[in-house]
Amino acid sequence: MLPLTDIDAALMEEVRTGLKANPKRLPPSLFYDAEGSALFERITELPEYYPTRTERGILGDHASDMLDGAGADLELVELGSGSSSKTHLLIQALLLRQGHGVYAPIDVSAAALDHANAALTQTFRNLEVHPICASYLDGLKDLPRRGPRRLLLFLGSTIGNFEPAEATSFLRAVRDSLRSGDALLIGMDQSKDASILVPAYDDAEAVTAEFNLNLLARLNREWGANFELDQFRHLALWNEGQSRIEMHLESLGRQSVFISALDLNITLEKGERIHTENSYKFRPGMGENILQEAGWTLERTWMDEQKWFAVHLARS
Ligand code: AVI
Repeated sequence: MLPLTDIDAALMEEVRTGLKANPKRLPPSLFYDAEGSALFERITELPEYYPTRTERGILGDHASDMLDGAGADLELVELGSGSSSKTHLLIQALLLRQGHGVYAPIDVSAAALDHANAALTQTFRNLEVHPICASYLDGLKDLPRRGPRRLLLFLGSTIGNFEPAEATSFLRAVRDSLRSGDALLIGMDQSKDASILVPAYDDAEAVTAEFNLNLLARLNREWGANFELDQFRHLALWNEGQSRIEMHLESLGRQSVFISALDLNITLEKGERIHTENSYKFRPGMGENILQEAGWTLERTWMDEQKWFAVHLARS
């Protein structure tokens, strides 16, 4: 268990409130410890998980077009960079165009930043990398300018993990941290048939199940909880009305759990669920509206042939 002083107080309150609520919920930010980040990287390679390879295909086809759209003399900043693997395509196009480039990846996972930095410096000689281990807005706050125009990358449809109102206020705060003329390249997964969506979040190898259960495993490891992982099952549901995939953990029987860091006892009934994540899938116009409400001007959109995934370029 971690010393209590090492656990963020606001996160503790969020978990306490979530576990006492009806229905119960846990914050998705808990997914991304070292184990969770590694599991997410495995998810991105699963045959059922189409978003990563679809977005990579779009970036591969249009990287130089995207940079041309963003403007001259760019510095790249990426929110939630993870392994930065898709970003290689944009960096390659940037170096081809400018000869030299600056890239500042921002991520909460120090391990992911270290891996990404090692791979980038080995692959690209004329690239300056300035990794920042921080939450998105904190990372942006004190980021020194190293070029006349910033192109901010927010890929992977991570915006879909925000509630729609939060997505708007987050994108507004992001815009407030930039200068007029800076640009945003944002990935948004599109709504599609449930027969494609559900397996992407409930794969045959059960990697997504392990990713979901890692939330409880993490509370056991770090918060002195005693969740029995084999007493829960992973659920991925398509909520058509809200246009979102929901992930839940369902209790297989009546059980009590103690979370030492919170000095909290909870009881779960058989079949009771803990809601762990929403992943919004954007219908035509939805993403465009969010950007507009947040004060961005949408300039261009690139999609794959099947229209499964969109990459938007917007101007601050
Ligand atoms: C990070 N995020 C965009 C992923 C998604 O698709 O919503 C997280 C994820 N959850 C389960 N699989 C992937």
